[in-house]
Amino acid sequence: MKSKSLSFDQYYQDIYPDWDQLKKNMLKEHGYYALDFTTVSSNKLSVLTEKIEATDSYFLDPVSTKTVDILDAQVDEVVYDLCSAPGGKSLYWCYQNFDQLAKLNLTVNEISKNRFIKLKKNLNQFLPQVENIRFTNFDARLWFQHETEVADKILLDVPCSSERHLLKQGSTDTWSFKKMKNLANTQFSLLCSALEVLKIGGELVYSTCSINPLENENILQRLEKKRTGRFELLQSELILPQVENHFGGPIFLAKIKRLS
Ligand SMILES: C[S@@+](CC[C@H](N)C(=O)[O-])C[C@H]1O[C@@H](n2cnc3c(N)ncnc32)[C@H](O)[C@@H]1O
Repeated sequence: MKSKSLSFDQYYQDIYPDWDQLKKNMLKEHGYYALDFTTVSSNKLSVLTEKIEATDSYFLDPVSTKTVDILDAQVDEVVYDLCSAPGGKSLYWCYQNFDQLAKLNLTVNEISKNRFIKLKKNLNQFLPQVENIRFTNFDARLWFQHETEVADKILLDVPCSSERHLLKQGSTDTWSFKKMKNLANTQFSLLCSALEVLKIGGELVYSTCSINPLENENILQRLEKKRTGRFELLQSELILPQVENHFGGPIFLAKIKRLS
C-alpha cells in the first residue's frame, strides 16, 4: 500500500491540501488556562498568552477542556478517566466542581508507571483532598475483563500520533505509518473496552490530539462495523488550530452513548 512508504509530510499533504498553512498554525504559540486552586471562586477562565509565575496553578491548553465540557459529567455520577496522566482533564473537572470535591466518584487510570506517579503527584499537589479519588495503574484495554456496566461517564483521551508535538520538537523522524497503525489499533481496543465499562445509557468522550483520520473518524467507522446498533454517536468534531485565536488544538472529540 502506497501510504506505508510515505514520509510524514507526504502523508499529511495527501490528506490536507493546505498542509503548509496547517503546519504553521500547529507551530504557532497558543495560550493556556491557569487553574488556580487557591482562588477557585468562579468557573470563568480566560486565555492567558504570557507565562505567569504561579505555583498554585495547573496550566493546560484551553481547547483540551472541551473534552470535559462535552462529557458533561455530573457530581453524583460514576466517572472514569481511563487514560489520565498527567491529569489535566481530571483536574479541570475537579476545578469545575471544587465546592463538591468530597462527593465526586472519580477513578483515574494510567498504564505507565512513571506517568502514574506524575498523575498522583499532580492531583495531590493541586487538590485539597483526594481520598475519594480511586487511582489505578492498569492497561485500560483489558478493563472490561474486570468491570462492566459500572460507569455513567468515561473520559477516553487516548495516546495518539500527536503531530503538533512532533512538529514542535523539530523532528518527525520518529513518525512512521506502521507506528501510527499500531496506535490506531490500541485506540480501537481502548474504545471497545471502555464502551463495555459504561452502564447502558452511559456516555463516553473519545478524544485525540491527532489530525489523522485513521485515529479519529476511522476509529468510529470501525466501531460502527463491529458493534452495529449497540452505540449511538451523539457528536464528533475535529478542531484545528487557527491563527486568529489562542485556544490551541488540534483536538478530535467524539461523544458516544451506549445503547445495549
Ligand atoms: C493523551 S495522554 C492523556 C492526557 C490526560 N488525559 C490529561 O489531560 O492530562 C494519553 C495517556 O494514556 C496512557 N495510555 C496509553 N495506553 C494506555 C492503556 N492501554 N491504558 C491506560 N492508559 C494508557 C499514556 O501513557 C498517556 O499518559
